[in-house]
Amino acid sequence: MRKFVTTTAIAAVMMSLGGGMSARAAENVEVLHWWTSGGEAAALDVLKKDLESKGISWTDMPVAGGGGTEAMTVLRARVTAGNAPTAVQMLGFDILDWAKEGALGNLDEVAAQEGWDKVVPTALQQFSKYDGHWIAAPVNVHSTNWVWINKAALDKAGGKEPANWDELIVLLDKFKEQGITPVAHGGQPWQDATIFDAVVLSLGNDFYKKAFIDLDPATLGSPQMKEAFDRMTKLRSYVDDNFSGRDWNLASAMVIEDKAGLQFMGDWAKGEFLKAGKKPGTDFVCMRFPGTQGSVTFNSDQFAMFKVADDKVPAQLKMASAIESPTFQSAFNVVKGSVPARTDVPDTDFDDCGKKGIKDLAEANASGSLYGSMAHGHANPAAVKNAIYDVVTRQFNGELSSEEAVTELVAAVEGAK
Ligand code: GAL
Repeated sequence: MRKFVTTTAIAAVMMSLGGGMSARAAENVEVLHWWTSGGEAAALDVLKKDLESKGISWTDMPVAGGGGTEAMTVLRARVTAGNAPTAVQMLGFDILDWAKEGALGNLDEVAAQEGWDKVVPTALQQFSKYDGHWIAAPVNVHSTNWVWINKAALDKAGGKEPANWDELIVLLDKFKEQGITPVAHGGQPWQDATIFDAVVLSLGNDFYKKAFIDLDPATLGSPQMKEAFDRMTKLRSYVDDNFSGRDWNLASAMVIEDKAGLQFMGDWAKGEFLKAGKKPGTDFVCMRFPGTQGSVTFNSDQFAMFKVADDKVPAQLKMASAIESPTFQSAFNVVKGSVPARTDVPDTDFDDCGKKGIKDLAEANASGSLYGSMAHGHANPAAVKNAIYDVVTRQFNGELSSEEAVTELVAAVEGAK
């Protein structure tokens, strides 16, 4: 009975509000994304709730698959069918590819009103703007050269964070002696490539830049690249037998549940630790991949805004504005594990890993050691990225020797350029 009265009362109120109410109800955004893990979904919820509080409803289009490979395939099908979503989570060069096709909308008005040019780092603007026009709203900055270590296992192993490659190997051997899986990993091309990002960076900033940013054939084919593949072979010896195809968040869970020593993964992994109630410094340790301190390989999730029917544009612009609000940037990134996509957001609400992430990013940017992540679409367009993925994964799985991988890498990149 009570339920009946309540429903009737709501219906009466809605009728009395008339046109105003239906205009509000029409404000809707359809959002395609791959944030389906526990930590990712919790962060996305911050955005959904923020928009709901502004009267904008959310139509969810999740496409599972870390790194977004599957999401990008679904997106292509949607756009080909003439049915583009309002906003799409997207990485780096993919945004520019869609802009080139003329598929994206224009956020100039809101960007100018809110002064985005002054607060969004230039490294991100490279991907948020095309031909001088804003086409995407950056929501965060992640980076890929992180290690997430189980604190109890590290303490048992002597408590020292490995400062270089040799110390890392010593630590992994100690994890083996403890009877846990030393490296929690999921055998998917993007995850293999995420480790490769860090391994290549650990062999020098210049090496990373020449290999992945400049795509210099001599560097791609160098003895140093063979060394990078040799390191991948070494790391492969520390993963468990069931690693193949495992999702990244299940690998994080192995560290969270004391089954594995560490995971090499971008800082979205922190979102999983936090979701599980774990605390940095107490339950887990975050550190840069040994040998990459001071350098950052970044990727930024942006919401690329598609050309949509005129009546959908106001909600799209409101979504872009909400994403760039400094308070939202703080609230969202605290949960996601990433750092703000603006330079003026205080780090007050961030935990120690987040504070370190903000500081590392600013310092790497100032010292010229901030690079786009190859594995996460910020070094090259998808064609080149996928060509590198293919070689890295085949080598990691023992289908290619390090020597063969070097030769294949040069040819694959040349063919995809
Ligand atoms: C990255 C993305 C992150 C995280 C991760 C795993 O490409 O930037 O936000 O979602 O994939 O799904």
